Amino acid sequence: MPASVVIGTQWGDEGKGKVVDYLADRMDYVVRYQGGNNAGHTVVAEGRTLKLHLVPSGILYDRITSVIADGVVVDPRVLLEEVAELEGLGVDCSRLRLSGNCHLIMPYHLELEKVTQRYLGKHALGTTKRGIGPAYADKAARVGLRVQDLFDERIFREKLDVVLREKNLVLTKVYNRLPLRAEDIVRDYLGYAERLAPYVADTSALLHEALRAGRHVLLEGAQGTMLDLDHGTYPFVTSSNPVAGYALASAGIGPREVDRVIGVTKAYVTRVGAGPFPTEDPGPDGERLGARGREFGTTTGRKRRCGWFDAVIVRYAARLNGLTELFLTKLDVLSGFRSVKVCTAYRCEGELHEDVPAHQSLIHRAEPVYEELEGWDQELGGAREFGALPPAARKFVERVEELVGVPVRVISVGPTREQSLPVG
Ligand code: IMP
Repeated sequence: MPASVVIGTQWGDEGKGKVVDYLADRMDYVVRYQGGNNAGHTVVAEGRTLKLHLVPSGILYDRITSVIADGVVVDPRVLLEEVAELEGLGVDCSRLRLSGNCHLIMPYHLELEKVTQRYLGKHALGTTKRGIGPAYADKAARVGLRVQDLFDERIFREKLDVVLREKNLVLTKVYNRLPLRAEDIVRDYLGYAERLAPYVADTSALLHEALRAGRHVLLEGAQGTMLDLDHGTYPFVTSSNPVAGYALASAGIGPREVDRVIGVTKAYVTRVGAGPFPTEDPGPDGERLGARGREFGTTTGRKRRCGWFDAVIVRYAARLNGLTELFLTKLDVLSGFRSVKVCTAYRCEGELHEDVPAHQSLIHRAEPVYEELEGWDQELGGAREFGALPPAARKFVERVEELVGVPVRVISVGPTREQSLPVG
């Protein structure tokens, strides 16, 4: 049975958790494939609102096995805290599976990210400071420690000693901080090992078997296409690849397994952290979008920058991810505007670009070309079918579809499952 990928088409926070909730009945496995606890999924299910950072949102459903695949970086303290919190709320986490190949976020990653972001001053990226970037950097530098290392004390100590020697030199000599003690780290991490052991599995083999047995697998990306390390607005990006292609590399399955790539797109755009954002509206419209959409980061609580729907980036996401369909979220937030703007192209140094310009400097200077659509006053939260929406709202959805060139299959008009309306 083929797998599906759910991917953010903007700068994250598009409402991917909502999509997983919508599809949960048809899924047997939900797999997180990149990022770490920089992500935040707010899930409203069966009357409960839960904020998840690391555990895949499938955990809320008894029949789903939740998998954290190889490409995720894991802070074991945070993972265990999240599991304890979920268990405290009565959510059974025994079906969580964690790849032994996941890289660990270590205390020096957190410490180094703090000091290096401070050192960058006005050039800082505004990261979530969860140690994600430094952990991926060590993975690429081949000095990372992995979940499986927790289960061989000798190896864990040996690898830690080598890497900590260099990290402590940087912390003390470059940044004038106190060194970290290997003994403290070994004590804490080997303590985590015991509690993590029941979840650790060969997740690639598990997923392979599941697919052979006809099970449905949903691969869930974190962040969004425009935060992709390769294809996003570098360097104002995250340190992993949210794009759909990476779902396969991380989960350890082949491309022929995937037949649906669902792009999640908000009816407007938000961004947290620094970096270009062509349709940002720092005026009253942006304020209103932020207030109506309650746009504060799930992980850091930071106020999100807001702006109008940008068809250029969603078209780009359609191309990069091979989107088969769109799931349009938060359409209800657009009620009450006299007119609703949609960016159809950018003007960069006098030239019109219908695609994201290949040179980063042009994106920084891009001016949005807007089309104004008629607004609507009615609140949409009570609608239970697409046909019940005001004509102007339906027109907006149709225009998004035309501009992106991908069908909108579902729109969401509120946080609960009943507020997801199939289109057509
Ligand atoms: P990092 O992922 O903590 O390294 O942060 C790099 C950039 O990605 C920053 O601009 C963050 O604000 C942004 N970012 C990371 N995770 C998320 C997310 O889940 N939603 C939105 N932005 C994110």
